[in-house]
This record gives sequence, structure tokens and C-alpha cells, in this order.
Amino acid sequence: MSKRAVSPLHMIDLIRKKRDGGALDPREIGFIVAATAGESIPLEQLSAWLMAAWLNGLTIEETGALAVAMRDSGEKFDPSRLGKQAVDKHSTGGVGDKTSFLVAPLAAACGVAVPMISGRALGHTGGTLDKLDSIPGFRSALTLAEFEAVLQQCGAAIVSQTPTLVPADRVLYALRDRTGTVESPGLICASILSKKLAAGLNALVLDVKTGSGAFLRERADEEFLAALMVVTAEAAGTRTVALMTDMGEPLGRTAGNWIEVAECVELLRGEMPADNADLRELSLRLAGWMIHLGGRTQTAEQGYWAAAGALADGTALKLFFEMVKAQGGDLTVFDDLKGSHKPGATLVLKAWRSGYVAAMDTTELGWAVQRLGAGREKAGEPVDAHAGIEFHARRGARVEEGQPFATLYATNEAMLSEPVDRIKRAITFSDEPPEEIPLVSHIFARENAEKYLRETTSSS
Ligand code: URA
Repeated sequence: MSKRAVSPLHMIDLIRKKRDGGALDPREIGFIVAATAGESIPLEQLSAWLMAAWLNGLTIEETGALAVAMRDSGEKFDPSRLGKQAVDKHSTGGVGDKTSFLVAPLAAACGVAVPMISGRALGHTGGTLDKLDSIPGFRSALTLAEFEAVLQQCGAAIVSQTPTLVPADRVLYALRDRTGTVESPGLICASILSKKLAAGLNALVLDVKTGSGAFLRERADEEFLAALMVVTAEAAGTRTVALMTDMGEPLGRTAGNWIEVAECVELLRGEMPADNADLRELSLRLAGWMIHLGGRTQTAEQGYWAAAGALADGTALKLFFEMVKAQGGDLTVFDDLKGSHKPGATLVLKAWRSGYVAAMDTTELGWAVQRLGAGREKAGEPVDAHAGIEFHARRGARVEEGQPFATLYATNEAMLSEPVDRIKRAITFSDEPPEEIPLVSHIFARENAEKYLRETTSSS
């Protein structure tokens, strides 16, 4: 029997197929991704395909094929030489979301390797790498060989994406940003997971934010994305859970760069102020899942208590300092956390009325933080290490007019006024205490995520 020749693929056919509501097979998806990484598709054709994918959506199978093809589009990290399970955490982004600085040393202290590839601030959300840059000397742009050396030494490393890892995502993400095709569950899922899968992870814990500071504003969209990421990562061989967590207020007491690192070091030193109990609790829950999925405990709850032990006995603090030093950071900056904080201008914003803090528009607060100088308007712009906000009242607190509500740190005096207006707009007061919102509202693992997707896709 003669072999049937495989017919050549043409981009125009794949655009028309997606435009007309068809689903591409893995070979067709692979063709697009390879040509994207090789820069052989004209950008107008790629843009047209992205818009067709945005409008008609990607099926679960297309999403999986896209994630895997993107993973394979460049160099990959092989953690098998570390001799430990490699586990990471990914958050969909938030304000004051600094759990990476806690979960990386907590999970590593309990015996898993944490190869963490992080991003920078863009839009209203902060970036882990910008926060780490506030430590003098810290280097996040490591080669894969340096990354592996830090992981061998410390069990955790936090780095930026290398130029050779997932090159297809670099092209696609920049194009999506310019063509209004970012907010698509399939495209987001494939983009995030391709980078996680290229890091060779054995397991992944997703922190999917909900509430006023979340990336997607509708709860149903966040749930769909969470379930889709779990099912897609599991199909690619990475054990994955997603925790749906509250971003209806900034996480912890601070939002900015250096002040967030300092808040984490305080926690790692064993200080337990009530006003950042949410940060401590969420970090232990996430680390608990990482430790469990990394095979170190039978349950996530046991993982939680193992992480709590590493926090209490100082092992996680020691490991955090070792990691910072191995990545070039100057540890003397931690000798005096307050003395190392050098903002250009400071303002104590007093409560402008009495009442309970009933609700916070976290996205608006995130923009306030960015406009103080902590974030950037365009990729590549520098950020101010010392800009940010320290909140003295959290959601649910009772405040009296005139008491300190927040301290703002800006690059200069002129940059204080817009964030003050934004904070005032973002806060709703009430005469009665608001209802409590659970920190973790739902957890997706493979089975309930599959069920969720079956039910939602069959009813739509
Ligand atoms: N983060 C990513 O890496 N990709 C997306 O598409 C959205 C957020």
C-alpha cells in the first residue's frame, strides 16, 4: 500500500477554517506555532487568525495543542537533574500579591524544587521581578545554567523568562496586546501554560484571582479559565490544582515594590501582625498544595502544616536569604527594613469619613500604586523601587474620620495627588460591617475541572 502524501498547509486556509467556526487539529496548530516562532508568517495573517480565534474561541483540544506546540517552540528547562519534584505557583496577577517570596522558600524548605519564572508589572498589577529589583544587586535575568545552579544550591530560584524559552509566546503575546485579542480563555491558558510547561514542572499550583482586582471581571470567566488551565496542564502531564482566591482587596498590608519585599521578610522573621494574616494564610495554603503535589505529604493540609513549621523555625527565612544572595542580592539591605526604604515623597492619607471599610475597588487601587511610580505605562520603562501604598485599614475595619488610612510613597510630590483621588474613589464605607469574603472560595483539581468544562461547554 502506498503511503498517502500529507498535503501541505497554507495559513490562508487555517484563517478561513477558524473564521468559519472550525476547529484546527494539532498538526495545523503546530504549523502556525512553528511558523510564528520562525517568524515566517506575515503579521497580518497571524493577527487575522488571532482575531478569528478570539471571536470563535478555541476548543479544549485546540487549547491543549496550542499550549504544547508553544512549549516546544524553543529551549526547555530540564529539572530532572535536581533530584526533586519541580513545582511552581502561578498567580493570575493582583495588587499586593507577594506570595511568591513566601511560597518559594516555604516549599523549597519542605523538599520540593521551585523553578519560578516570573514577570514584570504591566497594567494595574504588580510584577514579582520589579519587586525583587528593589534588592540592590539582585539578578533575575539568569541563563538556564545559572538558574539550575541556584536551584541546586537553594532549592528555589526566581528568574525572568529567557529569550530562548517559548519564543512563540513572545511574538503572539505582543501581537495580542496590539490587536485586542488578549482576553480569550484559550489564548491566555496556552500562553501561561506554555511557559510553565517549558520549565519542565512536575506540578503546578494556580492562584486564580477573583473580585474587584481580578484580570477577568466575571466570576464565571475566572472559573472557566481556572478549570481550563487545570485540564490543559494535566493533559500535558503536569499535576495541577487551581485555588480561586479573593482579590477584592489588596493582599497583605502593602502594595508596591520594596515595601512588599520588606513585608514578606517581616513575616519570614516570624512577625505575625493581624493586618496581614491574609497574606500569611494564603501563602501557607499555596505552599501546602505545592508540597503535597510535589509528593512530600499525603495531603495539602499536611503540606500546610509542614510549611507553617518551616516558617516558625526560620528555615524558610534562611533559604530566602540564600536564594537572594545566590542571585547577587545584597543582604545588608535587610538589616534595617525601614531604613532601607527611601521614597522620594511621603503622604499620610487620613480617613475622610467614619465608618466600616465595606468594599475596595482593587483595580483602581492597583492603578494608584502604579501612578505613584511603582509601575510602568509601557513595557521596558523603569519603575521606582520605593513607590507604593501601605494600608492602615483593611476591608471590614472600622475607621474614624481623621485617623491614618494609608501612607503613600511616591517618586516625587507631584505624583501624590492622582493616587489620592483614586484611593478615595476606590473605597466604599458603610455603617454596618460588611460580610466576610472567604480567602479561598473554590479549588479545582482534574476531576471537578473536567466536569465543570463538560457542563459549561455543553450548556453554551
Ligand atoms: N499572562 C500571560 O503570560 N499570558 C496571557 O495571555 C495573559 C497573562
